[in-house]
Amino acid sequence: MERTLALAEQLTANGQWREAVDLLAENNRRHRDTRLERKLVDFRLQAHSAMDWPQGGANWAGTWEEARPGAPELLVIEAGDFNAQTLAEGVLAHGALIVRGLVDRAVTDELIEYIDNTIEARERHDEAHDSPWDYTSPFMEGRPNKFASKDEKKRAKVKKGSIWVPESPRTMQRLIEVYESIGLRSILTEYFAEPPALSVRKWVLRRIAPDSMEAGWHQDGKFMGTDYNSVNMWLPLTECGEGANAAGMEILPVQSREIFETGGEGAAFNWTVGKPVVEELKKRWPLAHPHFNPGDALFFDHFNLHRTAFGEHLTEPRYAVESWFFASSGIPAKQMPLLF
Ligand SMILES: [Fe+2]
Repeated sequence: MERTLALAEQLTANGQWREAVDLLAENNRRHRDTRLERKLVDFRLQAHSAMDWPQGGANWAGTWEEARPGAPELLVIEAGDFNAQTLAEGVLAHGALIVRGLVDRAVTDELIEYIDNTIEARERHDEAHDSPWDYTSPFMEGRPNKFASKDEKKRAKVKKGSIWVPESPRTMQRLIEVYESIGLRSILTEYFAEPPALSVRKWVLRRIAPDSMEAGWHQDGKFMGTDYNSVNMWLPLTECGEGANAAGMEILPVQSREIFETGGEGAAFNWTVGKPVVEELKKRWPLAHPHFNPGDALFFDHFNLHRTAFGEHLTEPRYAVESWFFASSGIPAKQMPLLF
């Protein structure tokens, strides 16, 4: 262990960040260890800014101008048909893509346990005790601290709240293994025509209580800007959505590249789209409220209009992982890029 860590430090001193990360990741895969996992968070954070990211070719699979709009409805495919082409077709031509059965049930059950461990560790303030579930990297700026709050109201918000994946080093490393096992690295590299990056701020574990307050309709591009290429994979770990007892997602499969008017009538926040605007948009892109089994994945980018589908009848919490991937050369710095 000491030797592995020393060797990895040496590699980073030579600028060999990818090699250092691969070395630790491989060792950790064989035998999970908190020190490796925490170091991997530090290295992945440092690596992105230390490395060069030349812009990809103009021929990225998602060249919007070349995507022929399909029917205004989500594209739904089976896991075996998931590749860069179907990803582009779904995200760009249809506004969103569902891949059924992308992640196995054994893995989604394991990830639910990881989220519970993470939340419990966070509530116990395990950070200082070498926990694999609770860590603040010195290379991370800020941290959502609702869990630590003594304010009951702020703590209540955690019901619909979130933990950044890199705050939970074991979960982070496990998720990267899962992403590799389903082919995301090669599919996204082809899609972006350059390597994909992850980010601290837009890589989030969620356990949402059934009685959380209603969330607003929004486009993530409204607060992230639009000058980059992205793909979000929203992975529910619980059965949810239409006909289920946990909150799913309501989606307008937006097929255009525009940011709609926010605030105004019926909008709860200045970044949410008000009801009258949503009603107008529904005429162009009919509302979808899909049913999800654990491990079905939803893909869309920062122009998609969506909200969590809360409802009075819900009785179960909903577990999910939200992972935004960006083309490495263009990822906004304020999202805190991470080497994937
Ligand atoms: Fe969103």
